[in-house]
Amino acid sequence: MKFRKLRDIEVSAVGMGCMGFSHGYGALPPKEESIRLIRKAYDLGCTLFDTAEGYGPFVNEELVGEAVKPFRDKVVITTKFSPFLFPNQQGWAESKLSKKAIKNALEDSLKRLQTDYVDIYYEHRVPLDSNPEEVAEIMGELISEGKIKGWGQSQSNVEQIKKAHAVTPLSAIQSEYSMMERMFECDVIPLCKELNIGFVAFSPMASGFLSGKYNKDTQYKGDDVRLAITRFKPENVEKNQPLLDMLYDFANTKKCTPAQISLAWMLHKNDFVVPIPGMRKDERIVENLGSADVELTEEEFSAIEHELSKIEIFGNRTDEDIQRMGHVRAQ
Ligand SMILES: NC(=O)c1ccc[n+]([C@@H]2O[C@H](COP(=O)([O-])OP(=O)(O)OC[C@H]3O[C@@H](n4cnc5c(N)ncnc54)[C@H](OP(=O)(O)O)[C@@H]3O)[C@@H](O)[C@H]2O)c1
Repeated sequence: MKFRKLRDIEVSAVGMGCMGFSHGYGALPPKEESIRLIRKAYDLGCTLFDTAEGYGPFVNEELVGEAVKPFRDKVVITTKFSPFLFPNQQGWAESKLSKKAIKNALEDSLKRLQTDYVDIYYEHRVPLDSNPEEVAEIMGELISEGKIKGWGQSQSNVEQIKKAHAVTPLSAIQSEYSMMERMFECDVIPLCKELNIGFVAFSPMASGFLSGKYNKDTQYKGDDVRLAITRFKPENVEKNQPLLDMLYDFANTKKCTPAQISLAWMLHKNDFVVPIPGMRKDERIVENLGSADVELTEEEFSAIEHELSKIEIFGNRTDEDIQRMGHVRAQ
């Protein structure tokens, strides 16, 4: 396994997104199996494990805490507080972004994770009407108290990052990034480079699409977000086939898999970008973590960039679509 830095926090070049063990991708593996798979990732060199109070909610943090307990001091745990969800779990929250609310949320997360510090504590979404500096100040206090080592924001914009970073430097921005979603390449990722902030790519496999193992007939059930993500509409799956064809071409030449090419591409492009694929099968863990060893030459990377520039992407993943799916299911 290779390693890289999220500002001053060292992590494996590929981390593990743990959300799917409790949330968002349909049927769940049994708890013991999930723990085994998380520990397998660690055995293969993965040292970055991502969770959130919102996954489950709450139970994903419990799972991750239990799974990494035997080697907790050797890994980086990232979790997130939500500015929108879960008011008053223990009677807190006059505002979910108040100092009291955030500190209470962190204490609850620490208990569930069975640890006394979080490595990177993210603000899961940064509301447009909120004041990023206020949260940054609270994060600075939590760092001084030793409760967190660093902090981050998720899906934030350039202005929010600059305001927050000026108060308490950010360790990482965690936002959607893959060959199918490149919106942050034009502003947030260059800003992270300029300010020495790590960029953690969520849904780096475009929810599995880039593995080439799903087709227009694949059925999704339960809380699977692919029921809402429009790139999984059958007509879009067909229209996005040129992207998979391109990945297969490069994968055949490099004797690796499309999933590995898609991750190797982002690893090559920026040395402060760390993908955190979700993966719940032994072979996928081996495959995805193995992408850190797929080295692209400059020529190969340029050829991929050139091909990508010619390919149009159909459909996307939005919070709004995913929320709508929740409301439909709740009815
Ligand atoms: N900050 C945020 O707002 C936010 C939002 C979404 C996610 N996240 C974080 O980012 C992590 C990753 O996001 P994600 O789960 O959407 O990532 P992803 O890796 O793009 O998608 C996960 C899906 O792709 C499948 N998959 C992954 N690798 C595969 C492979 N090699 N072959 C076949 N299928 C493969 C997984 O299958 P199986 O799991 O079924 O094996 C799962 O269904 C989450 O776990 C979570 O920690 C954060």
